[in-house]
Amino acid sequence: AAALRGSFIRKAQLSNKSSHCLQVQASYKVAVLGAAGGIGQPLALLVKMSPLVSALHLYDIANVKGVAADLSHCNTPSQVLDFTGASELANCLNGVNVVVIPAGVPRKPGMTRDDLFNINANIVKTLVGAVADNCPDAFIHIISNPVNSTVPIAAEVLKQKGVYDPKKLFGVTTLDVVRANTFVAQEKNLKLIDVDVPVVGGHAGVTILPLLSKTKPSVSFTDEEVKNLTVRIQSAGTEVVEAKAGAGSATLSMAYAAARFVESSLRALDGDDDVYECSYVQSDLTDLPFFASRVKLGRKGIETLIPSDLQGLTEYEQKALEALKPELKASIEKGINFVQKQS
Ligand code: NAD
Ligand code: LMR
Repeated sequence: AAALRGSFIRKAQLSNKSSHCLQVQASYKVAVLGAAGGIGQPLALLVKMSPLVSALHLYDIANVKGVAADLSHCNTPSQVLDFTGASELANCLNGVNVVVIPAGVPRKPGMTRDDLFNINANIVKTLVGAVADNCPDAFIHIISNPVNSTVPIAAEVLKQKGVYDPKKLFGVTTLDVVRANTFVAQEKNLKLIDVDVPVVGGHAGVTILPLLSKTKPSVSFTDEEVKNLTVRIQSAGTEVVEAKAGAGSATLSMAYAAARFVESSLRALDGDDDVYECSYVQSDLTDLPFFASRVKLGRKGIETLIPSDLQGLTEYEQKALEALKPELKASIEKGINFVQKQS
């Protein structure tokens, strides 16, 4: 919401400066692949609200026509187009600036995210192959789980197609930050809008590492609060899976988080010089090839990774960082091997 609001405010500010020549134009094309799903539908609605979007391309293997017809009646700038099935995928992606991928199956109680690998790995591989063929310059946002493996899968596919730009491939971990901000604000009685907690590592269980010592505004936690908050943030996805009792995983909070990441990407593409988000990306901040951290976004994707968050960690955070590495490393290798074995 802050990102969406920021964009509207920016539009107003620019309009005030010189309404005849500095109007922000809705000029970016966004595609959602898996748009008829639990995340896809509310995400499409939120992206439809963005003043920066001129076209919203909705793709799914079924049921996307009705979603697009419905959304197209909202009187916001973007044109909504629907695309169904593999034969329409290339047209969906043509000329697109940002591709968001929430296609794939969600967890049921008792499953890990890695249990989704066998189905979702193939889906992500195929969709990213089409992105490589049709809009290789686009920012790619991967939501489909297991993100710790699907991002390395996407990177391998793009490499094989000769179009890999590590600055433009993102695993969406914004929901971990959204959750951390919410839980910390509740626990410490802080104003929600002020709270920002960097979350690093990956997006599954212990690989999700909130750096509570880096919370803004500065706030102190007891050891017990750190432990309880860390575990709650790491298991928040499971909390939703269990509450939904077989009907899927987080969709609404995920759509909110993904829309924030889309809006941040569009603001960066539009020249905003002050856009920072956490994301799971190719990284040299640790000895792992992919790692989530705060990144600065610019017109060409990632401008810089932010190493300072990993400096001066507490003993608890340092230990948790070392402890997450074997699982994250194995998930990365599983993704890379999946693509390399098939070629
Ligand atoms: P869902 O089943 O409600 O929707 C998935 C959609 O993907 C469906 O509409 C389905 O038709 C579509 N789909 C399946 N195969 C496709 C293909 N080959 N091409 C295009 N579309 C295809 O699931 P959901 O709740 O929306 O979750 C989607 C994914 O997002 C899951 O893998 C879930 O684990 C993941 N997820 C990630 C995060 C995160 O933080 N990164 C958060 C929540 C969920
Ligand atoms: C989440 O964190 O909510 C998602 O990764 C979905 C899940 O399976 O928990």
